[in-house]
Amino acid sequence: MNTLIRNGTVVTARDTGKADVLIEGERIKEVRAGIPQQSAEKVIDASGMYVMPGGIDCHTHLDMPFGGTTSSDDFETGTRAAAFGGTTSLVDFAIQGRGTRMRTALDTWWKKAEGKAVIDYGLHMIVTDLAGAGLEDMDDMVREGVASFKLFMAYPNVLMVDDATIFRALSQTAKNGALICMHAENGSVIDIIVQRALAEGKTAPVYHALTRPPRAEAEAVHRAIAMAEIAGAPVYIVHLSSEDALNEVREARYRGVPAFAETCPQYLLLSIEELERPGFEGAKYVFTPPLRPKQHLPKLWDGLKDDNLQVVSTDHCPFCFEDQKVLGKDDFTKIPNGGPGIENRLQLIYHHGVNQGKISINRFVELVSTTPARIFGMYPKKGEIAPGSDADLVIWDPAASHTISAKTHHMRVDYSLFEGFEVKGNARTVISRGEVIVDRGQFLGKLGRGQYLRRAARGGAWK
Ligand code: URP
Ligand code: ZN
Ligand code: ZN
Repeated sequence: MNTLIRNGTVVTARDTGKADVLIEGERIKEVRAGIPQQSAEKVIDASGMYVMPGGIDCHTHLDMPFGGTTSSDDFETGTRAAAFGGTTSLVDFAIQGRGTRMRTALDTWWKKAEGKAVIDYGLHMIVTDLAGAGLEDMDDMVREGVASFKLFMAYPNVLMVDDATIFRALSQTAKNGALICMHAENGSVIDIIVQRALAEGKTAPVYHALTRPPRAEAEAVHRAIAMAEIAGAPVYIVHLSSEDALNEVREARYRGVPAFAETCPQYLLLSIEELERPGFEGAKYVFTPPLRPKQHLPKLWDGLKDDNLQVVSTDHCPFCFEDQKVLGKDDFTKIPNGGPGIENRLQLIYHHGVNQGKISINRFVELVSTTPARIFGMYPKKGEIAPGSDADLVIWDPAASHTISAKTHHMRVDYSLFEGFEVKGNARTVISRGEVIVDRGQFLGKLGRGQYLRRAARGGAWK
């Protein structure tokens, strides 16, 4: 079926202009002003609206076993919530169990998504072990479209790997063109600070943040970039949270090093005080890296403006307050680490970024869609409005006001990190591969319609 989106303002990472968009089947066929109505069986009027590439969230954890429990959104509820917020693709994480093959993890995560995902999804592979066939497995994953790997410099005895493993993985990506995504915090140092805090009886949620200083993040970012330079590989720092860490990325980029970084709405909009909420409520804000003192927030916005931060993702990893976060009632180290956000990313960054004059609307599109597509090997299939690209589009109502709340959100979690936040600008109609999946608050998609995204190695911006 052909669909024509008429009278809208098309916004891409490059420009903004009045144009109609003709969709043929799953792809965009034409973008220009004055496409005749009779070219299409279905016409959508986008007067007063922006037509933008659908959002791409390249950091989510759906149905993920972690911290003694499992993240509360699965591929059904999580991708559905993403769609309501204008996100049409995501990249989630499969986890290689220690001593097991990456293919086993890939199969497991494909099964988790099968019959459930309502938007297209790719997978990164979390590497926990490169003994034995590990390096071969990385090449095998690249052939399957897993063009990126996450390694952890934190969470000792759980996910953390040593520098030798990191360096071997980086060296392999220098050959196979994949990208290493680094969780950069010095886990060994943090572990000692945590043990000291517990010995002093400091068990409340706020100690999660106080035991993970910004310098521990900056040190790991510095080390990760240095190892990437030695290996001759690019590196991508995930969920960057502090000015200290950003300065390390900035310094490297200034020297021409292909270092990239993302931040998330929570680090741009919330600060450490949230963890001091009365009772146990601070546990809602326990995720890693932690929220930082207020002075870091404007520095991260500066990073988005000057392109030392290239992407805004969510690190969506929800755990219900009532029956999951409570696991750490008497010990902050037992609070499952993670928070929800997959539905609110575009609303928050549009409102606090574009409406408040911090970034242009084109930069907004670049941060939430086009650059993630480029860096993670999906461009120009995703993240673009041009003939041949997938018709993944969000018709954005810049005048729509919305109050974020757990009472109305679609994520399967009993609280919102942004409860009561008022935003202006919201997704009105969301189109995935030519199909309207959300329209004016109604979900119209079918379970399982989302397709696995085979992503290209060397997709990125570092050529
Ligand atoms: O607290 C977080 N971020 N949980 C998800 C796992 C990770 O480190 O990204
Ligand atoms: Zn992480
Ligand atoms: Zn994460």
